Amino acid sequence: MDMSRRTVMAGAAAAGITAASIGNAHATGGRKPVKSLFGTLADGTKIYSWSLENGGTKLKVLSYGGIVQSLEIPDRRGRYTNVSLGFDNIEDYVAKSPYFGALIGRYGNRIGQGRFTLDGKSYQLSVNDGANSLHGGAQGFDKRVWDIEPFTKGSDVGLYLYYTSVDGEMGYPGTLRVKVTYTLTRSGDWRIDYEATTDKATVVNLTSHVYWNLAGEGSGTIENHELKIAASRYTPVDSGLIPTGELAPVAGTPFDFRRTKAIGEDIREAHQQLLYGKGIDHNWVLDKGITARPEWIATLKDPASGRTLTMATTEPGLQFYSGNFLDGTLVGPSGRTYRQGDALCLETQHFPDSPNQPSFPSTLLRPGQTYRSTTVHSFGA
Ligand code: BGC
Repeated sequence: MDMSRRTVMAGAAAAGITAASIGNAHATGGRKPVKSLFGTLADGTKIYSWSLENGGTKLKVLSYGGIVQSLEIPDRRGRYTNVSLGFDNIEDYVAKSPYFGALIGRYGNRIGQGRFTLDGKSYQLSVNDGANSLHGGAQGFDKRVWDIEPFTKGSDVGLYLYYTSVDGEMGYPGTLRVKVTYTLTRSGDWRIDYEATTDKATVVNLTSHVYWNLAGEGSGTIENHELKIAASRYTPVDSGLIPTGELAPVAGTPFDFRRTKAIGEDIREAHQQLLYGKGIDHNWVLDKGITARPEWIATLKDPASGRTLTMATTEPGLQFYSGNFLDGTLVGPSGRTYRQGDALCLETQHFPDSPNQPSFPSTLLRPGQTYRSTTVHSFGA
């Protein structure tokens, strides 16, 4: 058992989940990732889909945005379903995806006014969310074509994803060389390792934007999913969803997920923060802080199917977004529409707007340093 899996298990035990129920219910053994054509961009660029399978988890990844197009896991009776929202064609991803399954960069979540100052110089970023910059600006990493290289290593299978963001792209300083590794382990864990280097001082905050519905994409609301988050504080926001700078206690608020709670339980409380977010769209301050190894931070469960997702990360923050802006206009591979609350995102990250919040953990990356971040997703039923 590797270190990350041990820490996931430790946390899972704390969440009342047994070893047998995590990830390895249907161990099948890995096989070489398989590549197929998914579609073609307007400029003629071919977009490929890579299929991976290991330890009972089946993953499909696109070279566009590093998108997880499908992630299938079994329920307690062994029935597989795709638990992540997406599309079955490239055109919809290009035209209207709210970051379904995508890699997010250079900066996950918002930077206020799309502006920050670094070493006395101010930078204006691409603004794409009212007055703010969201998820890297108008053409973030979710809309870039990544170079993908498959690997098999011992009992693991996976993909290396490479993208180089040029100096000044979306307003960010420095050429940023990014390598993301998606690994499916023999116990069916999906692990993401992010790495980046720069040739000028810059800010970086990478994450993954999978929309989870453990009952299956297109199956309806996630309000009955149960969630536990190892965080006693969160970062309240203003009406533009920019953190105020305060680290507020979750105790006595709808944001308290220290004990397992159904997502729908408090989501209609007339709490000012829920009004701003049109539901939950907030960053939790993880009690463990930044860690060298991924540590358990959250467990999600769909009681009906029995499927569970257990997460561990090295990051200090978790953005929990309850799918508030899904409005019934997008149609998934199942042929069904996605309505408000039909999925949730759990994005491991540094806190939003950190470049403008000196008291938040720093997102600064200098030449010679390597940005590193790891998140592990374990599945069970
Ligand atoms: C943000 C939401 C945003 C969504 C985009 C989330 O990470 O927190 O505010 O609307 O991404 O789909």
